[in-house]
Amino acid sequence: MRRGACERVSVETPTLPRSNAPTDSMTLLAFETSCDESSTAVVQNGRIISNVVSSQVQLHAEYGGVVPELAAREHLRNLIPVAKTALHEAGITAEQIEAVAATQGPGLPGALMVGFKFAQSLAFNLRRPFVGVHHHEAHLYSPWTQGNPPAADFAEFEPNVSLIVSGGHTMLVSVPAELKHQLLGSTVDDAAGECFDKIGKMMGLPYPAGPEIDRLAEDGNPAAYAFPRPMIHEPHDDFSFSGLKTSVRYFLRDHPALLEDSQRVCNLSASVQAAIVEVLVAKTIRAAKRAGVHCVTASCGVTCNRALRRELAAACQREGLKLKLADKGLCTDNAGMIGLLAERKLLHQTGDTSLDADILPGWMLGTTDVTARA
Ligand code: KG4
Ligand code: ZN
Repeated sequence: MRRGACERVSVETPTLPRSNAPTDSMTLLAFETSCDESSTAVVQNGRIISNVVSSQVQLHAEYGGVVPELAAREHLRNLIPVAKTALHEAGITAEQIEAVAATQGPGLPGALMVGFKFAQSLAFNLRRPFVGVHHHEAHLYSPWTQGNPPAADFAEFEPNVSLIVSGGHTMLVSVPAELKHQLLGSTVDDAAGECFDKIGKMMGLPYPAGPEIDRLAEDGNPAAYAFPRPMIHEPHDDFSFSGLKTSVRYFLRDHPALLEDSQRVCNLSASVQAAIVEVLVAKTIRAAKRAGVHCVTASCGVTCNRALRRELAAACQREGLKLKLADKGLCTDNAGMIGLLAERKLLHQTGDTSLDADILPGWMLGTTDVTARA
């Protein structure tokens, strides 16, 4: 996936020649604007034909985190150019769209509003069905999406426990069947990505610090400093990362010279990363074993972390569990995953969403597979 600051970038999927496109499939246009990525995708017959993402990460880096008002304004600026590019890359016109989808929640209200209302207006104008999608429900199927162009292999689906781990969320979800899910647990304070970002800020690293800590940790000793592994032994599936952040804050207060030594910065990065990864892996494996499933999946931004990918793979191998990790290009927010789920919902006739429906910024990943209606 090509990404850049506030510029049009897109997943490098080839445009399908029209002659290769299935004639009996649905062509769906999807929008994702829940946080700091403006994205539009064309999905057809379970395949992501184009997936254009305009990332705002450099815009927000200056402030050390996402500024909601700026995010909404940037979506307003980017969405039409991004949508035009997605249509162009897919080789279709707006009139060929047979359904429209958008992220309905959860997310930043102003940001969600831009994509959701734009998509509803388009569906109204084209007289096409509209589907509002739960952002995290869409993430549940990214690990099943592979290839070029990326396609969701629902035939391969099996019951699993899914780890969704980003800058805003850390949750474990039981997915017993396609389009069915139950939230097992989530963070009671900071998300794992937020913990990476906040600790990185204390270390003077640029936002978002997760990828930087990942990079520095490769040259560090994960056993150099012992940080707490919050809630690792608790029997429930909730997480807590704010205590770890505080522990690093006090550690840096007591060892201020450490940040001037590059090897010790690498050791600190590796030690922090090891604490976060160990908690994520231990709790995911325990939840999977308790649920009696044979498969673990993971997606969202922090799933790009190399140590997490390695440790999850090692733990799953030890426990005889199959592991499906989302491809790095589909870990972060993109409209392709929204479109794939929306198409699946329309094909399963779980219902479309009213054109009067409102955004649901606080929408919890519940126990239902029914598309939310306002
Ligand atoms: O899913 P995402 O793009 O956006 C949301 O938070 O919704 O995730 C971004 C988060 C940030 O906190 C970022 O620091 C973290 O994912 N992240 C990483 C890595 N790549 C992204 N954390 C650790 N290691 C990485 N390689
Ligand atoms: Zn996300």
